[in-house]
Amino acid sequence: MSPLRYPGRMPRPEELLFPTRKERFEDRRKEREQRKLAGEFFDHPTLLAVGRLVSQGQFESLEFPISTGKEGGVFRATGPGGYRAVKVYRIGNAIFRRLPPHALEDLRREASVRNYARLVYAWTRREYTTLGRLHEAGVRVPEPYGFLRNVLVMQFIGVGGLPSPRVRDAVVPDPGAFYADLSVQLRRMTLVAKLVHGDLSPYNVLLGEDGLPVLIDVASSVATDHPQAIGLLRRDTSHFARFLKRLGVDTSPEELFARAGGNEIPEGG
Ligand SMILES: Nc1ncnc2c1ncn2[C@@H]1O[C@H](COP(=O)(O)OP(=O)(O)OP(=O)(O)O)[C@@H](O)[C@H]1O
Ligand SMILES: [Mg+2]
Repeated sequence: MSPLRYPGRMPRPEELLFPTRKERFEDRRKEREQRKLAGEFFDHPTLLAVGRLVSQGQFESLEFPISTGKEGGVFRATGPGGYRAVKVYRIGNAIFRRLPPHALEDLRREASVRNYARLVYAWTRREYTTLGRLHEAGVRVPEPYGFLRNVLVMQFIGVGGLPSPRVRDAVVPDPGAFYADLSVQLRRMTLVAKLVHGDLSPYNVLLGEDGLPVLIDVASSVATDHPQAIGLLRRDTSHFARFLKRLGVDTSPEELFARAGGNEIPEGG
C-alpha cells in the first residue's frame, strides 16, 4: 500500500491496518472491532514507524492480526515476494510485568532513558538481534528483516498464507522426528549461537510446514555465559520434556538438557 493513498494527511490506524474500504465496511460489528484493535496498538509514533517501514520497502500493508495479547500483536503483512509477519509491541508496562529478573536487568542496561517507550524499543531491538544471531547459527527461527521502534518485521511462518499453529494447539504428525529436530535446534542455539531461550514452551514453538519446530518469541534469551543461563536452560528443557512426554516421546528433563548441549557449555559460557 502506498502512503500516497492518503494525500496530505496521516492515514487513520484502521486504514493502515485494513487498507481496502471493502475490508473495513464489510459489516458494522467487524468494523467496530477493527477500529478498536487499530486504536489499541497504533498510537501515533507506532503509525509513523509503520509508515517508515513501508516506505523502506519492508512490507506493503498490514492485513490482519494473527495473534493479539496484552504485550502486543502479530500481523500478517503483504511483503516483497510473499507474506511477512509484523510484530507490534504495545507501549506500556505489560511485557515488563511478566519479565524474568535477568531480562529486566539486561534491558535496564540497554535503555539509557527509563521510560516505557524506550524500554519497549530496546526490547524490540533485542528480539531483532537475537533472531539474527540464531538465524546465522542455523537455528530454525523466523528470519528477521528489520525493525523500527516497537515494530519488528520478520519471515512469515505458514503455508499458503495460513500461519503455522503453535505446537500447543497442533497435532504433531511425527513426535519422534519433531523431538530429534528440536534437539538439533536447541543444541545449535546453546553451542553455536551461545544463547539460552529463557521462555521455551509449546506456546513459543510453531509447528512448521514440514512438521518440524520453529522457535519464536526469543527476546528473553540470555548468553550462555550469563550467571543464570544454565538454570534457565534446565527450566526450559524440563518444561518442554514434560510436553514431549505427553506426545508419547520417551525423554526426560535430563535427557533433553543433555541433548540441548547443557552439559557441554564451557566454564564461563
Ligand atoms: N513469524 C511468524 N509467523 C507466523 N506467525 C507468527 C510469527 N511470529 C509469531 N506468530 C504468531 O503470533 C503469536 C504470538 O507471537 P509471540 O509468541 O512472538 O508473541 P508474544 O509477545 O508472546 O505474544 P503472546 O503473549 O500472545 O504469546 C504466536 O503464538 C504465533 O501464533
Ligand atoms: Mg509468545
